[in-house]
Amino acid sequence: MIKVLFVCLGNICRSPLAEAIFNDLLRQEELDSRVLCDSAGTSDYHIGKLPDERTLEVVNQKGLSLEHRARQFTKEDFRSFDYIVAMDESNLFDIKALATKGNDDKQQLFLMREFDDTPGDTNVPDPYWGGDRGFFEVHDILLRSCSNLLRFIKSKQDIQ
Ligand code: 4NP
Repeated sequence: MIKVLFVCLGNICRSPLAEAIFNDLLRQEELDSRVLCDSAGTSDYHIGKLPDERTLEVVNQKGLSLEHRARQFTKEDFRSFDYIVAMDESNLFDIKALATKGNDDKQQLFLMREFDDTPGDTNVPDPYWGGDRGFFEVHDILLRSCSNLLRFIKSKQDIQ
């Protein structure tokens, strides 16, 4: 099984939405028995909580599904996951701070917008402090990025 972990700050907005979108793509391509994904936050702010209601609104409106409770990223995730995809540079910095010095952990680390083929910011913007519209904009960024991420993983892992 190929394992992908999406990481943001709170694990209630961006990374669970990425999880819902990526799972939908996996099902569409009948790859859900080969690839799985999860999400986590670098902070402990919302551990155990359901995704933000605005995240769930996008999930519903886009016909996605999501069952997730927020959890905090841990060092063990480096061993459990093949691909760790951070939503922004601050998340990436915090993840790297947990990597063990001198090992290869950093090779599995990516920024989500490395996979976004539409020019823009390098970060997936944090929609938490804004209105509903920000969540739909984040959805569109994540959909483009997740599609290209899946294509990348398929090419690396030799799966169709
Ligand atoms: P997320 O958004 O990292 O995309 O889940 C946030 C959620 C909560 C907070 C910040 C960002 N917060 O400060 O509580």
